[in-house]
Amino acid sequence: MKNYFHTPVMLEEVIKFLDVKVDGNYIDATLGGGGYTKKITSLLGDDGRALSIDLDPLSLENFSQFKTKKNIVVNDNFVNIKKIVLENFKKQIFFDGIVADLGLSSAQLDDEERGFSFNNEKSLDMAFGPKIENDTFWIVNNYKQFELENIIKEYGEEPWAKKIAGRIVEERKKNKIDNSKKLAEIISSAIPKKFWSKRINPATKTFQALRMETNNELDVLGIFLEDASNLLKVGGCLVVVSFHSLEDRIVKRFFKSKKESGNFELVNKKPLVATENETKNNSRARSAKLRVLKRIK
Ligand SMILES: C[S@@+](CC[C@H](N)C(=O)[O-])C[C@H]1O[C@@H](n2cnc3c(N)ncnc32)[C@H](O)[C@@H]1O
Repeated sequence: MKNYFHTPVMLEEVIKFLDVKVDGNYIDATLGGGGYTKKITSLLGDDGRALSIDLDPLSLENFSQFKTKKNIVVNDNFVNIKKIVLENFKKQIFFDGIVADLGLSSAQLDDEERGFSFNNEKSLDMAFGPKIENDTFWIVNNYKQFELENIIKEYGEEPWAKKIAGRIVEERKKNKIDNSKKLAEIISSAIPKKFWSKRINPATKTFQALRMETNNELDVLGIFLEDASNLLKVGGCLVVVSFHSLEDRIVKRFFKSKKESGNFELVNKKPLVATENETKNNSRARSAKLRVLKRIK
């Protein structure tokens, strides 16, 4: 088994909002390294259940060493949350709390077979789960120039999108772009050095955009939020931790629309961010935004 490393972000805050009851039912929609699930499980009694989902088989393989009879672990996309609940509980049940911690884990970023990082010479895949047909390799080598430009601009909020898309198309005519190191170099070469960030790799925004397109992340999130909020018991909370402004905007708008329906309330008007102490020890926590929706009727 590969080493699976991930430090959970805003763990204390997430657990506080889930307010775990000994006999409650909870969903962790993004198991990852199991940080949230382990904590939830430790607070449950014999009648409590934690259903944890992840698209990545590596996450489940890692969690098998911690699994107890209170855990149900499912390898699937959280977009299928309704179906997953029905299949695993054999009837429609409602939950005391649901959490989703979006994006990718540190273990996935480090996995050479995935191509999420900038210096990987082996692959250009970026799928959260098992191999898919239209992975990043396919997108980069087949999308039309304007399509690449649009996703880089929209999902990456990258001001150099036009230049980057042009450079990708120019380079792929010579040779297929088949690993993330090559792609990161092509992207960097499209941005004048004086505009390179001191803090992050120049390819960061474009990689993020391609990952979001590969995994259809924004559409999936919209469907998940609707179905997850309908699975809450009265008094139960949906906690979402996001790392990207577009994701946070989707969560914010969705929560607002639910509040207007009269059956839900916003637990925190502004998103919570990680403490200074946490961001000092875990740079990933810097961009985290936590929002909570509570079912009141
Ligand atoms: C940031 S990590 C979660 C870390 C986790 N909270 C922990 O404490 O270790 C995000 C996880 O969500 C998974 N993921 C992302 N999108 C998903 C989706 N649509 N369905 C299921 N899992 C998904 C990724 O594979 C990854 O393992």
